[in-house]
Amino acid sequence: MMAREDWSEFPGNQEQHGSESAQPLMTLTYRSRATGAMSPAGLRQLREMAAARNRAEGVTGVVLYDNQRFFQWLEGPPDGVARVWSSISRDPRHTDIEAISVHAAPTRLFGQWDMRLSTSREEMADLRGMSPGLIHPEAERLATLAIGTDSDAVRGLIADVFGRYESLQTVTEQLIEPAARRLSDLWSSGDCSEYEVTLGLCRLQTSMRVLMADSVPDIADEPLVVLVAPLPGEIHLLGATLGAEATWQAGWETELRFPSTEEALKKIVATNWFDAVDLSLSPANQREHRIPSMEKIIATVRRASQNPALVVVAGGRAFYDRLATSSDVGADASHASAAQVTQAIEQARRGRL
Ligand SMILES: Cc1cc2nc3c(=O)[nH]c(=O)nc-3n(C[C@H](O)[C@H](O)[C@H](O)COP(=O)(O)O)c2cc1C
Repeated sequence: MMAREDWSEFPGNQEQHGSESAQPLMTLTYRSRATGAMSPAGLRQLREMAAARNRAEGVTGVVLYDNQRFFQWLEGPPDGVARVWSSISRDPRHTDIEAISVHAAPTRLFGQWDMRLSTSREEMADLRGMSPGLIHPEAERLATLAIGTDSDAVRGLIADVFGRYESLQTVTEQLIEPAARRLSDLWSSGDCSEYEVTLGLCRLQTSMRVLMADSVPDIADEPLVVLVAPLPGEIHLLGATLGAEATWQAGWETELRFPSTEEALKKIVATNWFDAVDLSLSPANQREHRIPSMEKIIATVRRASQNPALVVVAGGRAFYDRLATSSDVGADASHASAAQVTQAIEQARRGRL
């Protein structure tokens, strides 16, 4: 294990830090062994706690956990990394801590992750409540296919998974949305262009429509009337399309619209009766910067609506990644997946009773 004194020898430690770009960056990697098996809840708690502190320290990185072994990559300003490392190396949840490398780095590799937790497939499935064996390889393959040249292969893979699970929810949550996030991550890491991401998302969207085209649901006994739309200005329409598919399959009266401005959206809710409105940001990109405008637009929708008790729910990757909550945007509920739009609306309506 690396001695604490080693830090003073690291050149960055003697420098004055200015802005992020002027600061030297360092990376540290180590491996260790968990003192006991980590439960999904324990891992989640560790990740959330680490992410909050890392954010404050300007530290980013990734921690891998598999079969009671940890591997972690930390990167950030030397003093921030040193403070975090000092805590980690005293943590009784692991032992046999062995620093593998400490060096200066020109750029961050995980700039968008306060602390990404990656686990083996089974553990990851457990963490997210997924059925093991499905998610990562196939979602990843789908992302690759979506930016390739073979549209039939995209459709084939989606149809294959749907054939196995016969559940729109499973396909949406465990295949399509992870593939969408993967596309965005490929773009962030410079492995594909923005054009390819947008094209890939369109392919997923079209394939889902083709898949569901023959499935005509029964109308619910008391169907809710819902408007499903991307937030005006959101160019990724996949989330709204998936959300509309979910409310339509639930037998609700669904109106899927793509208003390009706040004014256009206002007009739709002012001239039609809706029990609920679902507004979504990109299912692929985080869109953190759009949170304030989402709040403003939701307030406008409520004021303009014919229904004084209108339920408004919000979704998109920002909610999946927990960068935003329903109260941040003034919604009655939010959903981490478009497949959960109906549950979010029902939950919000129950909360009103
Ligand atoms: C494998 C592992 C990785 C960890 N990664 C981080 C991390 O990246 N950032 C962080 O602040 N804490 C991390 N922690 C938690 C710290 O060890 C420590 O509990 C936490 O920072 C609180 O610090 P304190 O005990 O000095 O108050 C990790 C713990 C373990 C077991």
